[in-house]
Amino acid sequence: MSDHKGFTLWMTGLSGSGKSTITEVLIDEFEDRDIPLEVLDGDVVRENLSKGLGFSKEDRDINISRIAFVADLLSRNGVPVITAAISPYRETRDHARQIHEGNSTFVEVFVATSLEDCEARDTKGLYAKARSGEIKEFTGISDPYEEPLDPELRIETAGKTPEESAQDVLDYLEAEGLISAK
Ligand code: ADX
Repeated sequence: MSDHKGFTLWMTGLSGSGKSTITEVLIDEFEDRDIPLEVLDGDVVRENLSKGLGFSKEDRDINISRIAFVADLLSRNGVPVITAAISPYRETRDHARQIHEGNSTFVEVFVATSLEDCEARDTKGLYAKARSGEIKEFTGISDPYEEPLDPELRIETAGKTPEESAQDVLDYLEAEGLISAK
């Protein structure tokens, strides 16, 4: 098995920014390198661990603290973890970081796709519904997104393929000695 350490790669960004798509590429890359990986994707977590939660600040905070709790349990036992939830609140992300302190490495990755680009793509059709008022409290439209001020990694996705964005992540992890080079 390849050399690796436990860490949590915490992706944050708007809906449709590419968090899940980049994660899909990383899943294949980790598999190729024989590195174990667990993924906590917002959409998936909301179907089980966080089923029934909505999008108020309170519910989002509960969702994020559950994801942080599980990510910490895994990563402190040597498992690499990727989380991919909007996680719009800075304070809540900082709390996720604090949970990991002294246990494993926390890597905050800001998937910095602009609102304009996310909305133009609108892969799930949710931005149109948010604009029409059919969906309330939609991140970036009628609900806040607080950009990370000092993330470990900021990915500019504009003009890049998901593979190129994923490569930025892999380069960082290798440079930090969290995974070994291919
Ligand atoms: S978070 O704010 O709690 O981190 P999470 O990543 O789990 O959000 O879920 C976001 C996904 O839920 C979006 O990608 C979108 O598909 C869907 N969604 C539905 N309603 C909303 C909303 N009001 N705001 C943001 N995302 C929403």
